[in-house]
Amino acid sequence: MRSRRMLCRKQCIFLIVVLPLLIVPAVLIIKHSDGHIDEIFIPPKRLPNSQGTYIGPVVQYEHVNLTGVQKIVRPIDAPKARPAKCNDYVWSGNCRDTCYSFNILVRKKQRKQIVLKCEKSKTQLNSVYTPKQKMVHKVDFRDSCLQKVTEWYCRDKLSVPNIVHYVWFGKWEFQFIHFLSFLSAFKVQKPCLIMVHADKLPTGNLWNYFLQICQKVVHVKRKQPKTVMDKKLTFIEHKADVAKLEALKEYGGIYLDTDQVLLKPLEKFRSYDVTIGLDNGGQVANSIILAKKNAAFIKLWLEEYRTFTKNDGNKHSQIIPFTLAQKFPHFVKIVGDELSAPNAHKISDLYARNVDWTRQYGMHMHLKLRQKSFGKEKFDMHTVKTMNTTAGAVARYILYGNTDLCTSPKGYIIH
Ligand SMILES: *[C@@H]1O[C@H](CO)[C@@H](O)[C@H](O)[C@H]1NC(C)=O
Ligand SMILES: *[C@@H]1O[C@H](CO)[C@@H](O)[C@H](O)[C@H]1NC(C)=O
Repeated sequence: MRSRRMLCRKQCIFLIVVLPLLIVPAVLIIKHSDGHIDEIFIPPKRLPNSQGTYIGPVVQYEHVNLTGVQKIVRPIDAPKARPAKCNDYVWSGNCRDTCYSFNILVRKKQRKQIVLKCEKSKTQLNSVYTPKQKMVHKVDFRDSCLQKVTEWYCRDKLSVPNIVHYVWFGKWEFQFIHFLSFLSAFKVQKPCLIMVHADKLPTGNLWNYFLQICQKVVHVKRKQPKTVMDKKLTFIEHKADVAKLEALKEYGGIYLDTDQVLLKPLEKFRSYDVTIGLDNGGQVANSIILAKKNAAFIKLWLEEYRTFTKNDGNKHSQIIPFTLAQKFPHFVKIVGDELSAPNAHKISDLYARNVDWTRQYGMHMHLKLRQKSFGKEKFDMHTVKTMNTTAGAVARYILYGNTDLCTSPKGYIIH
């Protein structure tokens, strides 16, 4: 009897006192992070007392697989790893078999997603497992935690932080070309974050598939801007033009149009304050812009909008920045068309011919123009396997890591 009472006392103490102590923090952690924390990213090392200065060589990070960021162990000159087999989840780079059909409907029970966390003196970028297939960390445009995380995690010794920015306004389905753009940015540039400045996130199977592959998306909530420099904005294209400059001014990084793909890392351009390419005669190409935070050129460009009118066309988005660049050459690096060729006049180079693109860092896929001029031909996960054009080769390069045409009949299997 006595011993039983003793036992009860022990159990009761455990139940009433100890258990809640164990459960409460556990619940708090789960509630906070929406899944258990899988990985805490480590910011690059800095010298004490001098923020932003690096100790020794910059730590190189690489997404080896979907489990996140890892230090590269192999020396730069070591032979490349053998191409991996194709896998619906793992996008390690090359999978050789361009006949493989990716199953875009696969879903893991839990997917990974980064979350930002700022408490008093702690700033963290964590990776959590979540059962929610579409859960994307959401923040306001000028969120102070996002500012801190980008400063702490995404800044290295180069001027332009390795952040990729997209602007997405309206409720639209994520198309195959969008998927190529996002996937190439993720695979090729290995950004610290992919910020989607959007009123509504994209929808559709390809978007959900992209979230399975990439955990680095942050939804930066943005209303479509109504004015700039007290001038009214009417057309969605102009609103997006302004939003992209504002994103670059606020955070710095690499802005990409949602139909601009990346073919080579942009490290070489990240040392300039601003880099922009040429379209043709007297105008810049604005489907890709690199800029450091608060860059003088971006500020000047935004200020030029005080002369904006409704029927501006591409004056403020392409012509004025060209003139500005002539006036302030030390504020901006102007490159040729290797960031985004071909321009709109040469769209058949993409969809009707095979041209050499080995020198290019990126390519503008001209989604809208394609729909107008080549819309009859399907351009998707399946057709690109056998499409003998520049666009077909680029798509295969992004999806499979090589440009070979699929010549085997199994390429026609559709999931
Ligand atoms: C991913 O990387 C981790 C850490 O190196 C490793 O343990 C794991 O096996 C890898 N997973 C895949 C699917 O390659
Ligand atoms: C693809 O097109 C090129 C010309 O652009 C041609 O030389 C080549 O033979 C074609 N390949 C196939 C497999 O049809």
